[in-house]
Amino acid sequence: MKTERTFEAVAKSIDNTEAQLKKEEVSVVQSISSGTAIVSGLENVEMDELLQFEHNVQGMVQTLNRNSVGVVFLSNPDKIKAGDRVMRTGRVLDVPVSENLLGRAINPLGEVLDGKGAYAYDERRPVEVEAVPIMDRAPVDTPLQTGIKAVDAFTPIGRGQRELILGDRQTGKTAIALDAIINQKGNGTICIYCAIGQRNSAVAGVIDDLQKYGVAEQTIVVSASADDEAGMQYVAPYAATSIGEYFMERGRDVLVVYDDLTNHARAYRQMSLLLRRPPGREAFPGDIFYIHSRLLERATKLSIEQGGGSLTALPIVCTEAGNISAYIPTNIISITDGQIYLSAQMFQKGLMPAIDTGKSVSRVGGDAQLPAYKSVVGPLKLFYAQFEELESFTKFGTQLDKETQQRIARGQAVRQVLQQRRFSLLSAAEQIAVFAATNAGLFDGMDAAQIAEAQNTVLKIFHAQFGKLEKAVLDRRKLTDAELSQMTKAFKDVLNSGE
Ligand SMILES: Nc1ncnc2c1ncn2[C@@H]1O[C@H](COP(=O)(O)OP(=O)(O)OP(=O)(O)O)[C@@H](O)[C@H]1O
Ligand SMILES: [Mg+2]
Repeated sequence: MKTERTFEAVAKSIDNTEAQLKKEEVSVVQSISSGTAIVSGLENVEMDELLQFEHNVQGMVQTLNRNSVGVVFLSNPDKIKAGDRVMRTGRVLDVPVSENLLGRAINPLGEVLDGKGAYAYDERRPVEVEAVPIMDRAPVDTPLQTGIKAVDAFTPIGRGQRELILGDRQTGKTAIALDAIINQKGNGTICIYCAIGQRNSAVAGVIDDLQKYGVAEQTIVVSASADDEAGMQYVAPYAATSIGEYFMERGRDVLVVYDDLTNHARAYRQMSLLLRRPPGREAFPGDIFYIHSRLLERATKLSIEQGGGSLTALPIVCTEAGNISAYIPTNIISITDGQIYLSAQMFQKGLMPAIDTGKSVSRVGGDAQLPAYKSVVGPLKLFYAQFEELESFTKFGTQLDKETQQRIARGQAVRQVLQQRRFSLLSAAEQIAVFAATNAGLFDGMDAAQIAEAQNTVLKIFHAQFGKLEKAVLDRRKLTDAELSQMTKAFKDVLNSGE
């Protein structure tokens, strides 16, 4: 009886087995030129498919020709020569993802860069995926506080928003993005710092800061450095976004910094020229707009039904001589929901962060400010814009009436208040305290050093006497006029007695 059943089972499984001839597609390298190769044959190969070369070198299919494919290398191809074997993998480029990535530094293929050994992963996600459909998105309505007064007040960033940071070399672009990450300490936000085409030492500096300020464990660094192949630099931001989406789909808030997309565009230009695609403006290929729009389109806030997670994107772009109408900056300005423009002149004058509020905007941020914050900062913003105009007139040396003089003094105080050292970040409630004091004119007529000191005093009193407002602000409660006047009175009493 038992043997009979066994026979039956065996016979059945034989019936169900179909002999399959699996054609393993192998071909040879036709030609190779710095970072790219032409591989003959490989009829059924797909776009973006990963190809395995000898010496454990990998490449990605980027053009499909009739009898050959164009490939960009993802690892150093020095040992590869014409005639070498190439194998299909049948996989589009993907990156392994899991919670274990937190606190780690990897390259866009998921290979570890921090020497801390391999990590276990849940799944591999393709680096290129379609953006979330509109129906699954929710409006941006929650602030992503950066802790930087000038940003939170003038160009507020909402969760799910794309805000460009742009400016010349060495104007504090990375510093702003890094402060934004550090300000997420302990609030559950997952941060991803994607370094593209940077020096390894610069990336190491960022990692040091992440550790020093206690956010390394909630941050993932994805780096394709200047030494890496152009192909690797090209895929870096897509890989970083795929990792972010993994967390976003699990209901988490994610902040991704792309530092920077100028290098990304250059890497793409280099590989496109080598693949003989027709060059267009500034020798960039015709689809340069599309590579950035499909990347940034993936930043979003998901609807409640989709778990309510979000992916906020802070792309960075480097300008030359302040020229924001160059090709790449204009493209990305038009894709993003606003920009923070850093002025080299302000930086040279020592005004830091060197944010030019006149040229910076946030197209959705206002909706995302906390109610209490918005009611204190709203009037200030308008006032400051008018002050800057007024100030340029007064340069003509006209006699000023008393009221104008007062407005100038207030405006100058606001300008000083917006100064902030790196890493000294303020919560929304702390910023309210400082701005309330500014609105009340407590800093008028003081010089920079006095204002810095007075600000510290204000913060001390705030924590000693009004610390409980911190929670009210976060609970989206507006502060009453009584609360505000009580607070400013307390500040005033102490500041005046100190004089
Ligand atoms: N708010 C600030 N307070 C003090 N120093 C600052 C501030 N912001 C930036 N810096 C300093 O200015 C220098 C340049 O900053 P950062 O590296 O962020 O500029 P960048 O625009 O990213 O430069 P690059 O174009 O080289 O990437 C750094 O030494 C940094 O410490
Ligand atoms: Mg930088």
